[in-house]
Amino acid sequence: MHNFIFRNPVELIFGKGQISKLSEKIAPGTKVMMTFGGGSIFKNGIYDQVKAALKGVEVIEFGGIEANPDYSTLMKAVEICKKEKVDMLLAVGGGSIIDGTKFIAAGTKYEGDPWEFMLDSSITSEAIPFGTVLTLPATASEMNCGAVISRRETNEKFAFHNPNCFPQFSILDPTAIYSLPKRQISNGIVDTYAHTLEQYLTTDIDTKVMDRFAEGLLRTLVEIAPDLLKDERSYDVCANFMITATMGLNGFIAMGVDEDWATHMIGHELTALHGLDHGVTLAIVHPGVMRVMKEEKRAKLLKYAERVWDIKEGTEDERIEAAVVKTEEFYRSVGMKIKLSEHNIGEETINTIVKRFRDRKWNVGEHGIVTPEKTEMILRSVL
Ligand code: NZQ
Ligand code: ZN
Repeated sequence: MHNFIFRNPVELIFGKGQISKLSEKIAPGTKVMMTFGGGSIFKNGIYDQVKAALKGVEVIEFGGIEANPDYSTLMKAVEICKKEKVDMLLAVGGGSIIDGTKFIAAGTKYEGDPWEFMLDSSITSEAIPFGTVLTLPATASEMNCGAVISRRETNEKFAFHNPNCFPQFSILDPTAIYSLPKRQISNGIVDTYAHTLEQYLTTDIDTKVMDRFAEGLLRTLVEIAPDLLKDERSYDVCANFMITATMGLNGFIAMGVDEDWATHMIGHELTALHGLDHGVTLAIVHPGVMRVMKEEKRAKLLKYAERVWDIKEGTEDERIEAAVVKTEEFYRSVGMKIKLSEHNIGEETINTIVKRFRDRKWNVGEHGIVTPEKTEMILRSVL
């Protein structure tokens, strides 16, 4: 097990009716910018619940943050925060809103162009404090300090991590996701599954607790997916989904392990170039990573086959292939198209992504094992 330092300061406030707790978290007289997306919070009553809990608080509303939040939109909020001297931010939405809010929080405190910290991971600006009300389980942004920001004018999408960008608190009310369309449930299932695999399917360095924890998250997703995709979702299934997604990327299963993230890095390019939903990109790329990086990941792939899919028969290669097929079937079962060609994406995009990775000198994956050549093989394998 590698040495590690673990710190996660986020206060989780979980359960039905918990949005009302905002009144205890934000004192009257605080000047708050409330950030949100394209309007789902007006239809499902979350906006009303938030506003009711914020009586006496001065609220500046900043809506219209798009899925895959865009630099130019967020910079408008940065300007307002600077001008109005906002004390605190409150993100009400999914990963895009929370990520965008992290960018606003850090961008407001940063003296230069905030895009600089998107390109240089050594820059960690101060940030104004913020809380979140989560409406879409997927990214775990509600309990981590990372964010992914898009810049449509250049077709780019990059991540940043800043220890000053943990939310102070996050409210997780499972009833908030009753209104989620199936497409977003599918995205959330696949995103959480992929986060877990990115921290599990690496090198086997005897991290027993993290492995069992990760396997528990994966098996839970497989178990609850059919119920989540029914027309009516029960409170319990929503609650289980919400906490699974949060646990997938809040640092718990990353303790002492090697991490991969090649699937995410390649997937971000597919979103930047073609606008595919984040979850959709992962369902395409992940099986390719498993097959192309089979030798490097062999021990963990075998563990995955046995412990997540109960595959015990056959040679090593047969068991690994069966586990990859099970993964593909699972992604298809939640409604994903898992080949580039099914999204009308072909050779040209593969060449563009590989050129970008070469130009950026990006060797991704655990220990940089996914070279641009491997990235090309991965993308060709899922054509
Ligand atoms: O904009 P509105 O109208 O609110 O609609 C949203 C949006 O269209 C809708 N939605 C959200 N909650 C809803 C709802 N509709 C009905 N009822 C509700 N309760 O869902 C749509 C998608 O929302 P979005 O926030 O974009 O989804 P998600 O949470 O999947 O976030 C995706 C973004 O997060 C990044 C992705 O790259 C992408 O930009 N990620 C962030 C990570 C992190 N911070 O750690 C890690 C992830 O790997 C990921 O990269
Ligand atoms: Zn993700």
